[in-house]
Amino acid sequence: MAAVVLGVGGGIAAYKACELLRLLSESGHPVRVVPTASALRFVGAPTWAALSGQPVADEVWSQVHEVPHVRIGQGADLVVVAPATADLLAKAAHGLADDLLTNTLLTARCPVVFAPAMHTEMWEHPATRANVATLRARGAIVIEPAVGRLTGADSGKGRLPDPAEIFAVCRRVLARGGLPAADLAGRHVVVTAGGTREPLDPVRFLGNRSSGKQGYAFARAAAARGARVTLVSANVALPDPAGVDIVRVGSTEELRKATVEAAAGADVVVMAAAPADFRPAAVSPSKIKKSDGGAPVIELVTNPDIAAELGEGKRPGQVLVAFAAETGDGDDAVESARGKLARKRADLIVLNRVGVDRVFGADANTAVVFGADGSATELSEQPKEDLADAVLDLVVPHLTDLS
Ligand SMILES: Cc1cc2nc3c(=O)[nH]c(=O)nc-3n(C[C@H](O)[C@H](O)[C@H](O)COP(=O)(O)O)c2cc1C
Repeated sequence: MAAVVLGVGGGIAAYKACELLRLLSESGHPVRVVPTASALRFVGAPTWAALSGQPVADEVWSQVHEVPHVRIGQGADLVVVAPATADLLAKAAHGLADDLLTNTLLTARCPVVFAPAMHTEMWEHPATRANVATLRARGAIVIEPAVGRLTGADSGKGRLPDPAEIFAVCRRVLARGGLPAADLAGRHVVVTAGGTREPLDPVRFLGNRSSGKQGYAFARAAAARGARVTLVSANVALPDPAGVDIVRVGSTEELRKATVEAAAGADVVVMAAAPADFRPAAVSPSKIKKSDGGAPVIELVTNPDIAAELGEGKRPGQVLVAFAAETGDGDDAVESARGKLARKRADLIVLNRVGVDRVFGADANTAVVFGADGSATELSEQPKEDLADAVLDLVVPHLTDLS
C-alpha cells in the first residue's frame, strides 16, 4: 500500500486532519504524520502517534540516526498537507526547511497535495496568491478552500474542505500511479452534472434519473489533476467535491445559461449532465388540481441543444466532451452517438448505454468514447471516477500548449 505523509499546519482546522488520517489508515495506507510546532499547539503529538501508530516529531533533531529529515520524504508515495496554513504555503513556495515538514517537502519526489485553510483575507493576499501559483507551477496540487464558516464569527472562502473530499483527492492522485499528478494545472475545466427539472406547476416537474455521480466524478478527477473546476450542478444530492466552484441550477434553461457563461474562458467542457430535451409549453402559476377537468394534456416544446450551442461557440483550442445516453445495445446507439458528435461539433462523445437500473445512480460505468478524428475507445466497467480519468486522458492530447 502506498506510503502517505500527512503534514499538519498550525491552523484551527488541524483537528479535522485526525479524520483524514483515519480515512487514509482505514484504507490500508501507512501514514506518517508530520505536524509543525504550531499544529502541535492545536492537536498534541500523542493523538497523532496513537492514531497513526508511528512516531511523531515536528523538528529534525529527533531520531537523528535515521536521518528523518531526508528519509520521510524519500519514502513517501504521497504527501498531503492539511490544513496548509499561509505560513506553510510561503515556506514551501520558497524552499525553506526549518522543521521536519518543510524538509520533507523538499526531499519528497512524489505527488504533493496542499489543502489550504485560512481567513479569506490571508487567502486573497497577493503574497499567498503568488505562493499558490508558484506551487502549482511546480506541479503541486493546491486544492481551492471551501466557502463557509471560518474561525470565530467570520465566514467566506478559506475553510478546509471536508476531510472525506480531501481523501477523495488523495485517492485520485494515488490511483494515477506514476502518471503526472498535475497534468491539468493551469486549465479551467467546466463540468455539468445531474438532471434538469422542467417545472409544470409550483410543485411538479418533468425530470430524469441522472444522479450526477458521473459528473461529480469528472469534477473530482479534474481537480485532483490540478485543474480549476467549475461544476454546474442540476439537482444533485451529493457532497460538494473539494476545490471545485459549484453553480447550482434547476431547469435546462438555467443549465444552459450557467454553462455558456462558465465555458466562455474554459479549456475543457464536459457535458455530463442530462438536460431535458423537452419542457412543458406553459407553467401553471398554481398547482394543477384534479377538479380542473380530468387529466391534463401537457404540451411540450423542444429545449435548446446546449452542447450544440457550445460546439458552435467553441473558442480555438477548447475541448468539448459531449455525452450520448442511449437505451438499447444495437448499432443504432453507435450511429446515434457518432451523429451527435458531428452535429454538436464535439471533440469527444461518451456513449453510455442507459436504462432504469443501468448507469443512473450506479457507482460504476461502461462507455465507448468516439473522437472527431474517427477513434473509438472502449472503457470497460470501472468506478465512475476511474472512467472520468480515462476520458480526461483522452482529452489531454487535444489541449494546446499553455505557453
Ligand atoms: C487560533 C488560531 C487559529 C489560526 N488559524 C489559522 C488558519 O486557519 N490558517 C492560517 O494560515 N493560520 C492560522 N493561524 C496562524 C498560524 O498559526 C501562524 O501563522 C503559524 O505561524 C503557522 O504555523 P505553521 O507554519 O506551522 O502552519 C491561527 C492562529 C491562531 C492562534
